[in-house]
Amino acid sequence: MYGPQGQNKPVAKVTVPEIRARKGGPPIAMVTAYDFTMARLLDEGGADILLVGDSLGMVVQGHPTTLPVTVEEICYHGRAVTRGSRRAHVVGDMPFMSFQVSPIAALENAGKLMKEGCFESVKLEGGEEVAEHVRRIVAAGIPVMGHVGLTPQSVHAMGGFKVQGKGDDAERVIQDARALEEAGCYSIVLEAIPPDLAEEVTASVTIPTIGIGAGAGCDGQVLVCYDLLGMYRDLKPKFAKRFAEVGDQIVGAVHEYVSEVQARTFPGPEHSFKPNNAPRRRPPIAPLPEVIDPAEIPPHWQTH
Ligand code: KIV
Repeated sequence: MYGPQGQNKPVAKVTVPEIRARKGGPPIAMVTAYDFTMARLLDEGGADILLVGDSLGMVVQGHPTTLPVTVEEICYHGRAVTRGSRRAHVVGDMPFMSFQVSPIAALENAGKLMKEGCFESVKLEGGEEVAEHVRRIVAAGIPVMGHVGLTPQSVHAMGGFKVQGKGDDAERVIQDARALEEAGCYSIVLEAIPPDLAEEVTASVTIPTIGIGAGAGCDGQVLVCYDLLGMYRDLKPKFAKRFAEVGDQIVGAVHEYVSEVQARTFPGPEHSFKPNNAPRRRPPIAPLPEVIDPAEIPPHWQTH
């Protein structure tokens, strides 16, 4: 592993035991990533964990939900992101129907993510109902991150992307988090739950909680990179703080490019190679073939 901007200083990877040890310590900064170039930048920015989330179905592929994403797609993006990450731990999201069917199917697909996506751990959505699945995966030596509260793969059952854990439902979220810890998860994402509930969950488990729309009381935070950068403008969840308006910058830059191309001011001499002023050697001109008098063509050359 080497340091930022190609410096040859070795950089240690963030490991699962280090993430576990951050419980109650310096907050963990996690962000989603889907390609090599973005992974490089996010890693250089100091993110501790890069998640190849199935959110790629929405922000990369343009679907209205995460449901169409496949194991193969997560693996494809995983290979790119792991090549871009020097320090950050890289987690692969288990997509819809890659684990729900059975603990064995979950184990097989988690193995696929590790072998073909080059991930260092996997994440899956759900609570008590997936505890056995988590147990099987963890027993195979694959670290698992849980995900409770708003679980986007259940968007239709939830009636939309809605805040979870309100009223009596709070107890379910706490029980789910405890079940995941007990099954062997090394951390848990808490998505879209009231901040006081997130604090209660965080206090109820001994593994780090990583919040998204769950207030400041978690052991870490996660955001979708395109939200953080102001690039995904179709949805703007309340919790998605934009730390930059890269989307506006991209649109502005492309406008400028288009006008310079139209005005022929791009490319200028500074973007062009040196002119080739050297005298060009021309190949010698071949002598003209002799004109043959048809009468002189020997009869055995004539075809008709
Ligand atoms: O898919 C994803 O990006 C996620 C994060 C929002 C936690 O699950």
